[in-house]
Amino acid sequence: MSRSSGTFLSFLLIATLALAQTPLSPTANLSAQCVDCHSQTTPSVVAEWKKSKHGKLTCDTCHGADHKTAEDVKLAKTSTAACLQCHA
Ligand code: HEC
Ligand code: HEC
Ligand code: HEC
Repeated sequence: MSRSSGTFLSFLLIATLALAQTPLSPTANLSAQCVDCHSQTTPSVVAEWKKSKHGKLTCDTCHGADHKTAEDVKLAKTSTAACLQCHA
């Protein structure tokens, strides 16, 4: 392995550790939070999303970012306005 790729890998490792320590950063980890919890609450939804052509879109692209816990499910949005961002 070349010296520079080793340096790059160390950089990645440090960056990853730094991210892991940021407590619930609202934007960076948001989609991971949706996926984590929904892998348990609605595993089939997550499985379908992964297989779909939308599998690279984050959950909040279509559902918004207001609902984050089991107690605020009412805040989850599903509106066609979200679709129209890409499908006009
Ligand atoms: C801590 C757990 C948790 C997290 C984190 C979470 N959800 Fe949920 N979500 C739930 C539960 C529980 C329900 C209700 C499931 C049911 O009715 O079967 C729900 C329901 C939903 C629904 C359906 C709403 C409806 O009106 O039926 C959508 C859409 C949704 N979540 C999207 C998201 C998105 C997007 C995120 C991230 C921004 C997210 N969830 C984060 C637990 C979570
Ligand atoms: C491309 C837009 C889009 C993305 C991305 C997306 N969803 Fe959805 N989701 C929808 C639509 C549209 C519905 C309504 C479908 C229906 O009512 O049959 C829905 C429905 C749901 C429901 C309710 C399912 C039910 O059976 O009532 C949940 C929960 C949910 N989504 C969670 C998620 C989670 C978690 C993610 C990320 C892993 C995600 N969605 C990503 C568009 C999206
Ligand atoms: C951020 C952009 C984006 C948003 C938002 C979005 N889509 Fe898409 N959608 C795409 C892309 C990219 C594809 C893949 C196009 C392709 O591969 O031909 C796609 C594909 C589709 C397809 C074809 C699926 C297939 O399997 O062939 C349908 C239907 C669709 N979207 C409906 C929706 C609906 C309904 C919503 C809102 C709930 C939505 N999209 C929101 C970007 C988006």
